[in-house]
Amino acid sequence: MTPTPFDSRAPLLRSERCLVGVPGPEAAEAVLEYYLRNREHLEPWEPTRPTAFYSAAFWEAHLRHNFEDFRQGRSFRAVVTLQEDPGRVVGAVNLSNIARGVFLSCHLGYSFDAKAGGQGLATEAVGRLVGHAFEGLGLHRVQAAYIPENLRSERLLGRLGFEREGLARDYLFIGGRWRDHILTARLAPQPVRPVVP
Ligand SMILES: CC(C)(COP(=O)(O)OP(=O)(O)OC[C@H]1O[C@@H](n2cnc3c(N)ncnc32)[C@H](O)[C@@H]1OP(=O)(O)O)[C@@H](O)C(=O)NCCC(=O)NCCS
Repeated sequence: MTPTPFDSRAPLLRSERCLVGVPGPEAAEAVLEYYLRNREHLEPWEPTRPTAFYSAAFWEAHLRHNFEDFRQGRSFRAVVTLQEDPGRVVGAVNLSNIARGVFLSCHLGYSFDAKAGGQGLATEAVGRLVGHAFEGLGLHRVQAAYIPENLRSERLLGRLGFEREGLARDYLFIGGRWRDHILTARLAPQPVRPVVP
């Protein structure tokens, strides 16, 4: 059987064509391979990576830390495979900065393999993850930000029902400089009542 990158201690989310789950440290090679394959494709939209980012040692340590973060309820940083090829990573989709109390919110991030683009797979996988933020994690708000020139990201968020809330100046340090971002959010379909100590 093909080994998958998913850690069986975390929930595995299924959409029509994709699997979405949190990887364990043993997935270091599969995740590294995704980032090596997509280095040029991702460079304009992601932080400038140090050389160490492109090594299995980095990913082993990072995925161990990532899984602990998931276990503590701070994030749900996942990878995506196709159901028909469950060993190969084709995307990364993340819920991070999960805040509870009266905020019940998180940040959404995503990237998809250049060769798997334009088929609605990213929309499908990200949509499934956002569903999990509301139904699985009980959050009230999912926030996402994109550089105004990132039209594919804008269209993806539009398809998933995210609404524009504003423009944040010099919001994130991407590609070696501070970049303005458009802020968007989607709210839970049902009202959520926070549990406050
Ligand atoms: C952002 C990103 C994930 C979007 O990828 P994408 O390929 O445009 O998204 P999808 O896989 O959902 O494909 C959507 C496209 O497939 C088309 N499509 C084809 N079949 C489809 C189907 N069955 N269902 C839905 N859409 C389908 C859609 O019409 C759409 O095309 P359009 O945008 O030209 O209208 C990708 O561009 C990426 O990884 N970019 C680099 C990283 C990045 O920018 N991250 C976000 C930072 S904010």
